[in-house]
Amino acid sequence: MKVCVVGSGGREHALAHVLGRSHDVVVTPGNPGIPGSAPVPPTEVDADLTVIGPEAPLVDGLADRLRADGRLVFGPGADGARLEGSKAWMKEVLVEASVPTAAHGTFDDETDALAFLAGMGDLFVVKTDGLAAGKGVVVTTDRDEAVDAVRSYLSGAAFGDAGRTVVIEEGLTGPELSVLAVCDGTTAVALTPAQDFKRIGEGDTGPNTGGMGAYSPVPVATSAVVDDLVVGAVQPTLAALRGRGIDYRGVLYCGLMLTPAGPKVLEYNVRFGDPETQVVLPRLTSDLGHLLAAAASGRLEELPTFDDGAAVTVVCATEGYPTGPRTGDPIDGLEAASAIDGVTVFSSGVAEGVDGGLVTAGGRVLSLTGRGRTITEARERAYDAVAKLAWSGMQFRRDIAANPTGAGND
Ligand code: AMP
Ligand code: GLY
Repeated sequence: MKVCVVGSGGREHALAHVLGRSHDVVVTPGNPGIPGSAPVPPTEVDADLTVIGPEAPLVDGLADRLRADGRLVFGPGADGARLEGSKAWMKEVLVEASVPTAAHGTFDDETDALAFLAGMGDLFVVKTDGLAAGKGVVVTTDRDEAVDAVRSYLSGAAFGDAGRTVVIEEGLTGPELSVLAVCDGTTAVALTPAQDFKRIGEGDTGPNTGGMGAYSPVPVATSAVVDDLVVGAVQPTLAALRGRGIDYRGVLYCGLMLTPAGPKVLEYNVRFGDPETQVVLPRLTSDLGHLLAAAASGRLEELPTFDDGAAVTVVCATEGYPTGPRTGDPIDGLEAASAIDGVTVFSSGVAEGVDGGLVTAGGRVLSLTGRGRTITEARERAYDAVAKLAWSGMQFRRDIAANPTGAGND
């Protein structure tokens, strides 16, 4: 098959890398670190299957436009992508489908929002309704910080229109899990779980980012946990969507928290996770192209299979990320990092420098995935590769997958 992957980050690089095992792949627009990148619109690629990576084009209806053109597309239409485009709507669907989730209120009025906050316990969670690249979430025990977040979101100062409605949630605790479910509109199959590290700082400190690293498998995520999720959350959600006339063909990314009261869905995303994809897909032993084409055709039949090993990815970011990333610094050591046995380097925020080498061009620049028989071995390889890399102000977390038994974000 010829497959077109839409997007330009590490997730799309990983999709292209794994699809490329048995298919021809074009990545639009891609980036200078992804082989097969072509700076053309996806409509100009004559592909048998188009896989849309990021949320923004999905929310914007790219899948609908391509389908209207007769193409086979993996990724929900704008109607289904609203699950990620509006957290308030996502919570409505979760409640309708009786999926366990944090108690919440939705507000566009400051007085009402602050009154709700005043009645809450001691862990406050404030989220923008709209898209904010993983950064529009504050989780804090400091009431003043929560009040400031409400004010800066609702006024539009922090995230423009994306913040003018806020969702305030009860704070939950427990290990987090990311489960990517491949859906064909009616049924779903779960991929092997991963755990993501969302905070910028070691020990899960500092602001939320798009994700600073991930590992797979996750010891606490037994097959019973995953099966229960598919039966108790993914299938009822697909049914609730169908009830609204929505045929959801794409990834339903379930962000879960394993709370003392049982697993709860924190969020849905409508696409593969980044950097979860960089640890989940390399472990796939069945054919990714066939899986995604079957889902896109509404005929999911075969279960995906995964190796018994492990993968750990460490994200290297620029100085200032996630607030004000500095860009344009030359990247050294890329070849040496890629040459380490069991390591694959996936590129995100990179551009071509004047001398033909790569320079930093975004917050998250590279994710380095190590594979091994165990998480410990995979982790050692990933960090050996990180040690070869350098640019001015490069930052990364040293504690990715350091304590994998349900640690990470708990
Ligand atoms: P979200 O974008 O909704 O997944 O939120 C980003 C991160 O904020 C999650 O991965 C959690 O670490 C944290 N978070 C979100 N909602 C809650 C909640 N209700 N309780 C505790 N932490 C949360
Ligand atoms: N790693 C979190 C996300 O992709 O949203």
